[in-house]
Amino acid sequence: MQSLYSNGFEKIYDNMYQSFIDYKQEYLFYNTILKDHNKDSVLEIGSGTGHLAKYFIDNQCNYQGLDYSQAMIDLAIQNNPKGLFTQGDMRNFKLSTPVKSVIITGRTSSYLLTNKDINNALQSIYTNLEPNGILCFDFIDANRFFKQIKGGTTLTHKASFNNSHYSRNSKLNTNTSNNFMFDWDSKYYKIEGHNKKLIASDTSEVRAFTKNEWELLLYLNNYKILAFIDKPAYMFDCYAVVAQKL
Ligand SMILES: C[S@@+](CC[C@H](N)C(=O)[O-])C[C@H]1O[C@@H](n2cnc3c(N)ncnc32)[C@H](O)[C@@H]1O
Repeated sequence: MQSLYSNGFEKIYDNMYQSFIDYKQEYLFYNTILKDHNKDSVLEIGSGTGHLAKYFIDNQCNYQGLDYSQAMIDLAIQNNPKGLFTQGDMRNFKLSTPVKSVIITGRTSSYLLTNKDINNALQSIYTNLEPNGILCFDFIDANRFFKQIKGGTTLTHKASFNNSHYSRNSKLNTNTSNNFMFDWDSKYYKIEGHNKKLIASDTSEVRAFTKNEWELLLYLNNYKILAFIDKPAYMFDCYAVVAQKL
């Protein structure tokens, strides 16, 4: 998976995802939740190339980003010279000061492949949250998504940025040998006139979840669930969960 976020691929990601994701809408979504709970400091886990960060920073929120990939962090700093970004693993990290809220964005929860990964992440987040701190994250809803990809399916997504045109072919199939996983083979192309040039390819195993799994995992790790919110995304049916540290 990490090859998708390093070795130069981070620049392709940066270009393409600005077409796939409306980061302003993402900001409005998360900011409304944080405001509703009077939280004025936030850690974004899976901060990527810093497009959501930009909105928090421009709106004077006390923001910091954390990402596993140093290449993504470098690009996030380039995109937001005033931002605070740290390389780290959500399964084991320590901030210098606890924050009032943590968000895990862009389906980064899909990379928590085992329940051990999830418990480690929820415990790390717990120790880095202030009392009554808020955790909010999105996840791919296995109940809906697996009905779309059962037996295997191919999807194409097109993206344009700065007069460059791209397309991505994704082959998706369920793989439930270990949790509600799915296989995702993707090929990225740059389109020049009538020609299509392969620029990157990736094979990943990622995870979708049911609501019930998160209900129990959050309960066992001492969070109270405040809401599940239906949150459709460009490719996946998702929910966002809002939970509070007990
Ligand atoms: C799908 S991208 C989402 C990036 C960004 N949130 C966005 O919406 O554009 C997932 C990000 O999560 C990061 N990531 C994956 N596993 C991680 C981990 N264990 N800890 C922290 N970040 C992780 C990847 O490096 C990547 O930048």
